[in-house]
Amino acid sequence: MHAVRKSLSVGYSSGSRETVQPVVWRLLDVKSFASQVTTGSAARKHQSFKYDDLEIVQSKKLGKKPDWNKLVFGHNFSDHMLSIPWSETKGWDAPRIGPLKNIELHPAAKVLHYAIELFEGLKAYRGVDGRIRLFRPDQNMKRMNSSARRSGLPEFDGNELLRCMAQLIELDSSWVPQSPESSLYIRPTMIGNDPTLGVSRSKECLLYVISGPVGPYFPTGLKPVSLLADPSFVRSWPGSAGAFKMGSNYAPTILVGKEAEKQGCQQVLWLYGEDHQLTEVGTMNIAAYWTNENGEKELVTPPLNGLILPGVTRTSLLELAREWGVFKVTEKNITMKDIIKSIKEKRLIELFGAGTACVICPISRLLYLGRDIHIPVPVEGGDSVSRRFYNELLDIQYGRKAHPWAVDIEDLIQGTSTSAEVHEVAEPRRQKVAARI
Ligand SMILES: Cc1ncc(COP(=O)(O)O)c(C=O)c1O
Repeated sequence: MHAVRKSLSVGYSSGSRETVQPVVWRLLDVKSFASQVTTGSAARKHQSFKYDDLEIVQSKKLGKKPDWNKLVFGHNFSDHMLSIPWSETKGWDAPRIGPLKNIELHPAAKVLHYAIELFEGLKAYRGVDGRIRLFRPDQNMKRMNSSARRSGLPEFDGNELLRCMAQLIELDSSWVPQSPESSLYIRPTMIGNDPTLGVSRSKECLLYVISGPVGPYFPTGLKPVSLLADPSFVRSWPGSAGAFKMGSNYAPTILVGKEAEKQGCQQVLWLYGEDHQLTEVGTMNIAAYWTNENGEKELVTPPLNGLILPGVTRTSLLELAREWGVFKVTEKNITMKDIIKSIKEKRLIELFGAGTACVICPISRLLYLGRDIHIPVPVEGGDSVSRRFYNELLDIQYGRKAHPWAVDIEDLIQGTSTSAEVHEVAEPRRQKVAARI
């Protein structure tokens, strides 16, 4: 080994048998919760590890590269990982990149019992110019910190983690596929590894980042999927942690996914409430493009009301659509009744999922209360809003179109990426682009 030291919504609950008391759900803002869990000095909350303290230990033994044309998601990993331990007494330790290796945990570690864990998912794309870019990684850093807050785990400076991650990607750059539509998937993770039983805040934590090459989600073009829409399964509810990327949100979905498969569907459409609101599809956000009841073309997607994960792809679609300015863009609840009515009245044009894994996933069928509901899908080569989103995002990600959302890893390492790109939600660009649909 070679060591290098580098330079609200309001809900109601029954207060008594006679009266109904309004309850303010803590859906959107976990700051008040965070201030309870980040006990101790307020200063600690602002402490972070620093990229300048990053230590790199290069692996002497490099892994054999897989067949780039047969990549299975999550099965191949690059040679190195980034690890940053934290403890309540010492705060953040120095970040370290070293060979990918197993993690040793005490059998009582809180993560193994109470699922004190959160993660992120983003990709590094090798552009047509050979440069490696991340797509809006500032958004993942913001979401990761909000999940950490909700889990009682320590926060950190997202800019510092991004710079360390960029260094990891550069070191493992031979793992970033050359082929179009393939990418290096990056999985930042935080676990509460305090070696004690008892449902309480973890006084120790490990932040680590691993990565691995992934192929195109749809190797042969966008393929529409069918969904099980069974209101007896609920992914999240007011006051739950559905808006955070915590492992505990995903374990209960495995069985439901199996049930969907048994019933001939590929994914699950998560419904919520008595009116069967559409919330998410599998691990994607959902959007419909239709002619609304006023005869206007409209993109509609559920609001960030605490039930859904604030997807980076979702935000990007909304910002792009608002910038195009060629149809109405609305964030509001969509119910199964709305979908069925819009199909009957021939107003539904497209229904699709949106997420980092696939970018856009067209939906062709819903299995709802024992009935098959057929959704219109765009014809090959025809005009389609979802395809336009797909092409636009891929052009940005693969460097075919220069755009501030695509952040070059070299700029991150050099610290020349502007802080607005890294710290803040990028301001929606005001300039209009020519309409293509
Ligand atoms: C539950 C859920 N919803 C939506 C998304 C899409 O989010 P993003 O666009 O950031 O990948 C994901 C993927 O991370 C997810 O797990």
